[in-house]
Amino acid sequence: MIAILVGPPGSGKGTQAKVLTARFGIPQISTGDMLRAAKQAGTLDPRYRAIMDAGGLVPDEAMIELIDKRIDADDCKNGFLLDGFPRTVPQAEALEGLLARRSLTIDAVLQLDVPRDLLEERLIHRRTDKRSGQIYHLVYNPPPPDAELEHRADDRPEAVGKRLDAYEAMTSALLPYYETKGLLRRLDGVGPPEEVTGRVLLALDRANPVAT
Ligand code: AP5
Repeated sequence: MIAILVGPPGSGKGTQAKVLTARFGIPQISTGDMLRAAKQAGTLDPRYRAIMDAGGLVPDEAMIELIDKRIDADDCKNGFLLDGFPRTVPQAEALEGLLARRSLTIDAVLQLDVPRDLLEERLIHRRTDKRSGQIYHLVYNPPPPDAELEHRADDRPEAVGKRLDAYEAMTSALLPYYETKGLLRRLDGVGPPEEVTGRVLLALDRANPVAT
């Protein structure tokens, strides 16, 4: 199964991806996580680091190159779940080419819809456990006392606004792109995470009945 999670920052892509990868035994490919890992390792181009911290988008070519290499890894043999890629129409077009060269196709594009005020609230209260990568929310899903918490640089209120604007300006153009291809499934991303997972699984069942 090859599926794509699309949605604004804070819509729950990472939260849902963790559940889906465990259920389907396929990897989550999060370009944001890959960039943060490179940042942590000190190997990220300083220009990209500045773009990320300010809430902008890293150039398409760099992201496409990253995905081109990643999908050849052994763990992608049975499929993968893309989280945060593609984010622009040029990225989506490039992905189609990368997949076609490998005789692969996309099964579903799942869009998580959440109103902007709720997104801001989710991002500002998000914390991630550095060791496990587990995502928490200080109010809705509080971390255990022994978690080693990290507050992402781009979750500061000034960067959050810029990221939401970038989503509206660039990424929302993806939705009609995938809609015309009949791949887009719009889902309500509001409600307890388990309820949202139920909606995601139903949409995947419809897109690919053998997946479960
Ligand atoms: P990336 O890491 O992809 O960030 P994002 O798209 O902004 O998404 P987030 O990780 O912020 O949110 P999410 O939807 O995963 O929500 P989460 O599950 O954590 O990208 C970061 C940066 O990298 C970009 O800004 C850009 O600079 C760069 N980048 C990455 N990919 C790129 C690309 N392809 N092209 C160019 N640049 C790229 O949930 C958020 C919070 O809400 C958590 O606290 C969680 O506990 C809580 N929550 C989740 N679900 C629920 C629920 N149902 N109810 C209540 N709370 C919930």
